[in-house]
Amino acid sequence: MPRTVFAGTGYYVPERVITNHDLTQWMDTSDEWIVERTGIRERRWVPEGMTGAEMARRASLMALEEAGMEPGDIDAIVLGTLSPDVFFPGTGVYLQKELGIPGVPALDVRAQCSGFVYGLSVADAWIRAGQYRTILLVGVEIQSTGLDISTRGRDLAVLFGDGAGAAVLVAGDDDARGVLSTHIHADGRYAEMLWGECGSSRKHPRITCEDIEAGRHYPKMEGREVFKHAVTRMPEAVLEALDANGLTTADIDVLVPHQANLRISQMVQRRLGLRDDQVVNNIQRYGNTTAATIPIALAEAVREGRIQRGHLVALAAFGSGFTWGSAIIRW
Ligand code: COA
Repeated sequence: MPRTVFAGTGYYVPERVITNHDLTQWMDTSDEWIVERTGIRERRWVPEGMTGAEMARRASLMALEEAGMEPGDIDAIVLGTLSPDVFFPGTGVYLQKELGIPGVPALDVRAQCSGFVYGLSVADAWIRAGQYRTILLVGVEIQSTGLDISTRGRDLAVLFGDGAGAAVLVAGDDDARGVLSTHIHADGRYAEMLWGECGSSRKHPRITCEDIEAGRHYPKMEGREVFKHAVTRMPEAVLEALDANGLTTADIDVLVPHQANLRISQMVQRRLGLRDDQVVNNIQRYGNTTAATIPIALAEAVREGRIQRGHLVALAAFGSGFTWGSAIIRW
């Protein structure tokens, strides 16, 4: 059975930097509050006209270049996002159009911050089953256009940023290398702990002027509940993955956790007994880019030489749904 190998990684973040200080123009917040609670110092926001498909295209081309491949080599696209460019169709088909590869299937994954790990689980199953040999896996998010940039929305507005990350996954025959396993979970009882209610099909009409006046078109979050579940579920999922492969935390070289909050990542690190240099954190510079955090962090870590051939890499995700999951990869 073939193994899923990461042949290339890539990322793209918009050039427009929004510092914590910039946010104080629009809301009652401070650099100290944001840094102390989240570790975030700045994030990137898209300029007018930049789409998720365009950011995904740039990240994908970087990943393809690293893999020594062309768009025409891709057999399938799997794309995670909670912020599609339009309500439907998904961003995957727009990316496919931008890459100029008509006919190639494009699947959008709706698993929020766990989108990349969920997508990896699907792509890995396709590769193992022999259905596709080269899959482009992308996480892309534009959060900035949907945030309540006022004191009312400050709990969420300071956390999120925009960006895209991509990986080219190929079928490999070397048993010593590739994705060892993926583990994904969800618990819909917590769906409304972090959610976007409007405009949605269960409302008729989908959005009203009253909804907009009340700010119901903005995302809502029970921050403390999310925090509590994230610091439990991510280490649990990593331990589950290690156990499934007869490994322990001592075998991990590098952990790439979802970048939700630096405090969350530090607690996950402590629970797994890892050193600072084993955990990839870039939330200080990008905030939480939802489905894009893990592939952006992976691509940066590869370029910095922190992830090298032969390393045992663990991914851990947690997000709205709640959804969560992990993956273990022999790089
Ligand atoms: N700036 C300044 N003050 C803020 C603020 C901001 N951006 N956001 C909230 N506050 C205020 C609150 O209004 C509250 O004030 P009050 O005590 O006068 O009512 C106070 O700060 C404490 O708020 P609270 O929500 O209890 O803070 P917290 O310690 O839970 O930290 C989060 C808030 C959002 C940083 C934290 O809950 C968190 O990180 N949760 C997880 C979020 C996450 O990761 N989401 C994505 C998951 S994929």
